[in-house]
Amino acid sequence: MDPRHNPYAPGAGTPPPELAGRDELIERAAVALDRIRAGRSARSFILYGLRGVGKTVLLNRIGRDAGARGIESLKIEAPEERSLPGMLAPALRATLLRLSRSKAATAKVQRATRALAGFAKALKVKYQDLELSLDFETEEGVADSGNLDNDLTDLLSIVGAAAAERDTAVVFFVDELQYVPEDQLAALIIALHAANQNQLPITMVAAGLPQIVGQTGRAKSYAERLFEFVHIDRLDDEAAAVALTVPAKREGVDYESAAVAEILTQTHGYPYFLQEWGKHSWDVADDSPIEMKDCERATIEAIAELDASFFRVRFDRLTPAEKHYMRAMAELGPGPHRSGDIAEVLKRKVTSVAPVRNSLIAKGMIFSPAHGDTAFTVPLFDGFMKRIMPEGV
Ligand SMILES: Nc1ncnc2c1ncn2[C@@H]1O[C@H](COP(=O)(O)OP(=O)(O)O)[C@@H](O)[C@H]1O
Ligand SMILES: [Mg+2]
Repeated sequence: MDPRHNPYAPGAGTPPPELAGRDELIERAAVALDRIRAGRSARSFILYGLRGVGKTVLLNRIGRDAGARGIESLKIEAPEERSLPGMLAPALRATLLRLSRSKAATAKVQRATRALAGFAKALKVKYQDLELSLDFETEEGVADSGNLDNDLTDLLSIVGAAAAERDTAVVFFVDELQYVPEDQLAALIIALHAANQNQLPITMVAAGLPQIVGQTGRAKSYAERLFEFVHIDRLDDEAAAVALTVPAKREGVDYESAAVAEILTQTHGYPYFLQEWGKHSWDVADDSPIEMKDCERATIEAIAELDASFFRVRFDRLTPAEKHYMRAMAELGPGPHRSGDIAEVLKRKVTSVAPVRNSLIAKGMIFSPAHGDTAFTVPLFDGFMKRIMPEGV
């Protein structure tokens, strides 16, 4: 059918034509943020799950909705090489500018701006990516000790007070939270907790790979009081069928029910894969309805495309030793696997492959769902590893 009208949207963070199966969570997040804005008790959310399950689009949706309700939403994507202060400072500066523009700047917004300037000045030696033009006054003794834990706590409380005065909330939307170094993440959580204890309207909604649940480590007890950890998973059959069929239906195109069932089997209900299969099924079909034979051709095309892009870009970041480790995991199936079994496939000791396993965790390729277990962070990666390294381990 005409690719010009193809409604599907595979891609990292690309808004889907139909955001299926997440309504309840979106509503719960809206309620929590509105309560926090009003100074009432509520836990915000940390969304965790594998690659391609739809964390980024959910985070963006919750942020956009909050923005439309007048909440100051600051979007922060944690790249591997940036520091948290380096990312927070410019985002906060833009927020404070907006808060000061709406009416004549109030004393609290001005104070927050001075605190931010002091914060940046004190920490830019330690975090060299912290760049902020310092044409602001600072306030002696406020957020300028050079100790991240203390300064961030000062800063966020002062920003929270400014937000309260403006009847809004400041909410950080942090994607790829697993890349924030643990000490910086702990400082952020502790600072948000202190503000929260004073009922100040400032919080975070975050998303990341499953290892973020463990990474909140040092600040764990605070984190559990502030955040609900929500596992974002594949869609159930009903939601997956909606994600697949509703976009086509809007274009006047139907699916045979066997074709839908086939795609659900192939994709296991993973949102990213549903978009890929939908896209290819549409392109290969001659007309409505999309049939089983179209889906079978789509499977071949979709896998070829995933192998060349989604899977491939991740594979290309691996060292030879890391590739072998991943290939050994694939030999055992989709997983999770016991670390001992993986070492055995490699004919090595668990301790001798531990450094490789650790570097794969740091790269976000694998995680440990339970002590001594190892799993892929990308669904269906085992099949890809076997295709790309057919010779075996
Ligand atoms: N609930 C959903 N229904 C349908 N498609 C979705 C849904 N959530 C995400 N997608 C699609 O899945 C893909 C991956 O989404 P993304 O948010 O980037 O995942 P993640 O951040 O978890 O890796 C995108 O193409 C997006 O359009
Ligand atoms: Mg994402």
